[in-house]
Amino acid sequence: MVRPFCPPLLALALLLPLACGDDGAASTSASSTTGAASDTDASTASSSSGSGSTSDGSGSGTTGDATETGAPVTGESLFLEKCASCHGPAGEGSKLGYEIQHPIRDFSSWVVRNGRQSIEFPGTEMPAFAVDEIDDAELELIWDFLDEPAQPSEGVALYMDYCRNCHGVDASGGVSNRNIRSEPPPAMIFHVRMGAGGTNYGSRTAYMPPFPTSRISDAELDALVAAVPTL
Ligand code: HEC
Ligand code: HEC
Repeated sequence: MVRPFCPPLLALALLLPLACGDDGAASTSASSTTGAASDTDASTASSSSGSGSTSDGSGSGTTGDATETGAPVTGESLFLEKCASCHGPAGEGSKLGYEIQHPIRDFSSWVVRNGRQSIEFPGTEMPAFAVDEIDDAELELIWDFLDEPAQPSEGVALYMDYCRNCHGVDASGGVSNRNIRSEPPPAMIFHVRMGAGGTNYGSRTAYMPPFPTSRISDAELDALVAAVPTL
């Protein structure tokens, strides 16, 4: 039986990128080696930290160890290291960058790989991250982390979550330059389900992601559409 634990050597390797912290660019090489380290160190570490405290059923075993000795590389740790300074610790947004919870993954990945000149955040811009800094699997972990918070169910909050960044805080146009305040509900629903612009992710005025029912249910979309004229 293999039980989860946090080997001391792995912990050390993981503390390195955390210690190098906010500087972003400098810490990549350290974090990219951790996968290999966890495989090789597994056998030695189980004897020193794995056994012991679980027999009394106190439950302090696995999760307690992980937080004491240094967390494994997770979507959260990657996000805190590379994104939170501008997007806030949970992706809730800040003065330096948009709210980016519940990401549309193909579009969002394009933005991360290519970066973006900012319009609404003067003085900041979205940096481009190459695969040697964040690989594709790590990027998926980041998107998983940003999908963890519960999705809002109320109309205005749904609009802020999924539409605001492109159509503006009051739906009067924003960076897409498309005023949707008086769009008739059937047309609104049609556009949200269909999207526009295919994979032309770089065009602010042509690309809109399609939102399937798995992302925004019919009931949620009705609430969203009803909220737009009230913004
Ligand atoms: C230096 C600040 C900064 C950092 C660090 C940063 N971003 Fe951004 N990000 C921005 C700004 C500013 C924008 C808005 C660009 C624009 O106007 O389209 C943005 C836009 C985005 C968008 C598009 C949002 C939308 O709805 O248009 C995504 C997705 C995103 N960032 C993800 C990330 C991820 C993931 C990371 C970490 C790997 C990250 N960002 C790191 C500043 C930053
Ligand atoms: C990544 C940016 C982006 C996001 C996110 C986005 N849109 Fe759009 N939207 C656009 C662009 C660009 C267009 C114009 C596309 C075209 O040429 O048809 C558009 C078009 C529309 C239209 C048609 C407007 C017209 O003039 O015909 C509606 C309605 C609309 N969006 C609603 C929404 C709603 C509601 C949401 C949130 C669920 C949303 N959009 C999310 C970028 C976006």
